Amino acid sequence: MEPETGFTIVDMALKHGVEWGFSCLRGTCSRCRCQVVEGAEHLSAPTDEELDNLGDEEIEEGFRLGCQATVRSAGAVTIVHKPYF
Ligand code: FES
Repeated sequence: MEPETGFTIVDMALKHGVEWGFSCLRGTCSRCRCQVVEGAEHLSAPTDEELDNLGDEEIEEGFRLGCQATVRSAGAVTIVHKPYF
């Protein structure tokens, strides 16, 4: 199977029928917030929107915005949807 790169986490969830809350798709509402359990090295670096909306501690703990983080390379990635509410 070809690696699926260039898609955001929300794109991947929608594509594969995984329920994943989101709203703005612009990195402002945080409804798509999630935590990377493994494979962070396969994702894009945090965007300005993520840096603005997630705290430093959250970034360090692997939290991302699913509409911003993009899969960049092939490999196992495990991410859990963890919205604030
Ligand atoms: S959908 Fe709003 S921040 Fe991702």
